[in-house]
Amino acid sequence: MTTGVIVPAAGSGVRLGEPVPKAFVDLDGRSILEVCLAGIAATDLIDQVVVVVPAELCDHVARAAPGATVVVGGVERTDSVRAGLAALRDDVDVVLVHDAARPLTPVSVFRRVVDAVRAGSPAVIPGIPVVDTLKSVTSSADASLEQVDGTVDRDGVRAVQTPQGFDRTALVRAYAEAGDIATDDAGLAERAGIPVHVVAGDPLALKITTPWDLRIARSVLADPAG
Ligand code: CTP
Ligand code: MG
Repeated sequence: MTTGVIVPAAGSGVRLGEPVPKAFVDLDGRSILEVCLAGIAATDLIDQVVVVVPAELCDHVARAAPGATVVVGGVERTDSVRAGLAALRDDVDVVLVHDAARPLTPVSVFRRVVDAVRAGSPAVIPGIPVVDTLKSVTSSADASLEQVDGTVDRDGVRAVQTPQGFDRTALVRAYAEAGDIATDDAGLAERAGIPVHVVAGDPLALKITTPWDLRIARSVLADPAG
């Protein structure tokens, strides 16, 4: 089997609030994207890397990552993944989609996802248990207060990460049938009626979304043993 990874890195990082697009923010002398690509290379599982970047940074990334296929992203993440899908080599039959914003993802997570797809699951996602108690809420008359409707069964939910892995045919079908935007690729597969399986994720696969996440990622890289 031939495995490709699409790395969406074309977002602007509004919630992080840095002056450059999120994937190009410095982590340890290397950008978030560079650390992510080094992590992918270390897996030894990937035959083609497709990086999806903002238009103005396309040439820069093509020079910095000569082994990768570099394409321009779109307005929404789904547009960027779609652009990545179109750039996959014909021989790729297992596709991972892995956010540049999860640069610390361990090799073991890649391996679990790829193994499960290669074993026959059409869609596989890494997930971790949720430690906080979860409440469903609605807004109340006082905008500073929300009304609790109930407690969500924590045991029955997972916080979902990337890489998400797919049989290529399944992912192409999920995107062909996608009517609207989803926050992850498995969401599109679910809507297309494709079974999605969960393997164990890892806290290190955290997504850098806020300044707090950036602090955590920089601390981990500065002192990996903790
Ligand atoms: N992404 C992308 N194209 C977009 C939007 C997002 O390739 N139009 C990528 C981001 O670069 C990131 C991943 O999708 O690696 C996950 O998205 P997110 O964490 O939401 O990143 P941003 O959209 O950049 O952040 P924000 O939503 O805070 O602006
Ligand atoms: Mg976003």
